[in-house]
Amino acid sequence: MWRYIETQAGTVFAGFGFFEIRPPVLEKSKLFQRSIGEHTDIVEKEMYTFADRKGEAITLRPEATASVVRAYIQHKLYADKPVQKFYTIGPMFRRERPQKGRYRQFHQINAEVFGAASPYADAQLIFMLTTFLERLPVTDTTIHINSLGCRECRPSFKEKLFSFFQKHRADLCEDCRRRLERNPLRILDCKGEGCRAAAADAPVMTDFLCRSCHEHFDTVTALLKDRGVLFEVDRRLVRGLDYYTRTTFEVQTGRLGAQNAIAGGGRYDNLVGLLGGPDQPAVGFAVGLERLVELLRQEQKFSGKSGVTLFLAALDEISQRKVFEWMCQLNQRGISAEMSFAAGSLKSQLKQADKLGADFVLMIGENERTAGAVVLRDMATGEQRDIPLAEVVPTVLEILDDTRKR
Ligand code: HAM
Repeated sequence: MWRYIETQAGTVFAGFGFFEIRPPVLEKSKLFQRSIGEHTDIVEKEMYTFADRKGEAITLRPEATASVVRAYIQHKLYADKPVQKFYTIGPMFRRERPQKGRYRQFHQINAEVFGAASPYADAQLIFMLTTFLERLPVTDTTIHINSLGCRECRPSFKEKLFSFFQKHRADLCEDCRRRLERNPLRILDCKGEGCRAAAADAPVMTDFLCRSCHEHFDTVTALLKDRGVLFEVDRRLVRGLDYYTRTTFEVQTGRLGAQNAIAGGGRYDNLVGLLGGPDQPAVGFAVGLERLVELLRQEQKFSGKSGVTLFLAALDEISQRKVFEWMCQLNQRGISAEMSFAAGSLKSQLKQADKLGADFVLMIGENERTAGAVVLRDMATGEQRDIPLAEVVPTVLEILDDTRKR
């Protein structure tokens, strides 16, 4: 199922003009501190950080965006094309409290677009995400979308938030009291009961957007509506990473309990500049692979069938040798064929074939060898036919070819 999801992502993303990139799993710790933000949970509590042999602090990446941006700057990828679109799939590491849907090593599929400030880029990216989810298919999800403003309008919102939470200081958790001066936006993301209650009446960013952020947000939502993408404007949506500007979004599901976000992303127009690159706008998202796998399992879109086409059942040792030869020849030709390595009874081997979901079973024992023909059973129809020993591989290939064409 993992490979299936990754292949679908690769196919869909390629159609939208994305190229794969594979950044390293280890990066300098400073990269994440500067990009994700010193006062985020990820940087404060969750990073796996070590000193290497020279005493330099390195971190197992908690997310991929910072690494992709680092690569984009370091290899001057902005000079190749005005708009660059990348995707990457791989493991991330966060020292969170493990529970269903939340792991310390998990996998993300990331997509990032550089060099496009236009709201069309946000809309296209979100449209691509919904296309991918529909293709799997993952259904019953809601896109929550918000705007977090820009350098122009966010400071006045921050000030308002600060004075609001200052009044509720006593209700806030210890972490949020610390965050209050530096980054009051983080309080909106806190799951603590007191903080959540206090945040219920807090001001919302959309009331403070400057004209240009307003227009940007309106265009993104209008384009999504035009394309028939269903979403909810969620004025309380903030993300756990500090680099976002303007559009932010999350795909949520009601089917995974507390870990309800299957994807998250948004625009980060200042990050390339902040990390020492030229001022290049960017927008991206990441999907949590484990959560997608769980959703698909729940929807029973996958029966657990391994896709075995042919099971070869051998009833004695001499037949096993023969069957091994045929299996290898068929495997070489790309046919998923399996055999039992332990010589069991026909009944137990048929059971195994059934478990593997084999479409056909080929049977051979002493009687078949004496008769000079094996028996091939079509598991869907129960139909059986004899195949001469010398013609097993070409005949099986022919039959499978015919079945495929039907
Ligand atoms: P994020 O919201 O931190 O965003 O993670 C994106 C997705 O990764 C989540 O929605 C969730 O499905 C999955 N995820 C996160 N933590 C865990 C975990 N501990 N166990 C299992 N799954 C998890 C980012 O990482 C941003 N870099 C997204 C982005 C890309 N923004 C712009 N470009």
